[in-house]
Amino acid sequence: MVKIGVIGYGYWGPNLVRNFAEVKDARVTMVSDRKAERLAQVERRYPGVRTTTDPDALITDPDVDAVVIATPVEYHFDLAMATLRAGKHVLVEKPIASSSEQAARMVDEAQRRARVLMVDHTFVYTGAVQKIRDLTCDGDLGEIYYYDSVRINLGLFQHDVNVLWDLAVHDLSIMDFVLQRQPTAVSATGLAHVAGSPENIAYMTMFFDGPLIAHVHVNWLAPVKIRRTLLGGSRRMVVFDDLEASEKVKVYDRGISVDPSPENVYQMLVGYRSGDMWAPKLALAEALSVEASHFIDCVSHGSDPITDGEAGLRIVRLLEAASASMSAQGRLVTLEQPV
Ligand SMILES: NC(=O)c1ccc[n+]([C@@H]2O[C@H](COP(=O)([O-])OP(=O)(O)OC[C@H]3O[C@@H](n4cnc5c(N)ncnc54)[C@H](O)[C@@H]3O)[C@@H](O)[C@H]2O)c1
Repeated sequence: MVKIGVIGYGYWGPNLVRNFAEVKDARVTMVSDRKAERLAQVERRYPGVRTTTDPDALITDPDVDAVVIATPVEYHFDLAMATLRAGKHVLVEKPIASSSEQAARMVDEAQRRARVLMVDHTFVYTGAVQKIRDLTCDGDLGEIYYYDSVRINLGLFQHDVNVLWDLAVHDLSIMDFVLQRQPTAVSATGLAHVAGSPENIAYMTMFFDGPLIAHVHVNWLAPVKIRRTLLGGSRRMVVFDDLEASEKVKVYDRGISVDPSPENVYQMLVGYRSGDMWAPKLALAEALSVEASHFIDCVSHGSDPITDGEAGLRIVRLLEAASASMSAQGRLVTLEQPV
């Protein structure tokens, strides 16, 4: 039985507590939030769970084996490092830290102490994204040409991170999992419409080796909610609409074929293929429940999570590069490639 402590019971924390409370071989023993009124809600809903306004008391409590951190990003590093130093496993909300330097230190600390460091890249654990990854890896889509995503709504303006760090992080983690390739360069533009606040609208383009391009459009100031991603392949194309109640993923047997013209070798003939569309069956389990089980499994067996600290670090590196590009009005920022 893995005893779980959760720090941060604001908007997202309750989802984590609920899922860990239901997962096999785990028990939520303690919750911490700075705000006593948030803890009062925990006490009403989970009478057996202890609460504290002091996160350090939770981290060092002998009745806690692993800590889940669901505070704003600025506190992730200090709380995760304190947890690892206490010899405990940790699951950190996305993005894993405020800088790549912090994320790299967290990865080192977890390795040195042989503890599990996992990041909550929730979409990776959805049936939809797992299906898209299968279709990509099995070659059903052919060569991937583009990833194109729109993630906009009238969203909560965050004070500590810009919209890329809040929303684009979902797309970057989906791409990291599905494409298994890293961008070579990034360019981003965006603006803040509230003085003194981070950018609330952004457009991020990523370039790769080969004929693959990715674009992510995120916005907290849109009148409608859109969560739609297109993945274009040489054989088939996918549309993932997360707001669809069912049939979130649709696969289109559509595309082009290019043949040189028989009359003129310099002229190409583009043929269009318009075949069937189908909606594959998706696993229906709640992503956080799948993810909570995976974390408990990794803690129990000492295995590496799918969304490990390295995955968190890769995403934060991209977010940093995008933010640097955005402050230079879209200047292309090249990314160091892993050796
Ligand atoms: N995976 C997802 O889909 C998803 C969705 C929403 C939010 N998040 C992430 O979850 C994290 C929290 O976001 P949120 O929207 O719940 O924020 P929030 O502001 O609603 O809640 C954060 C809570 O943490 C508490 N807190 C802050 N610092 C603390 C500290 N040092 N010790 C104890 N409690 C502390 C606050 O009092 C607050 O109740 C962020 O990293 C965010 O990116 C992830």
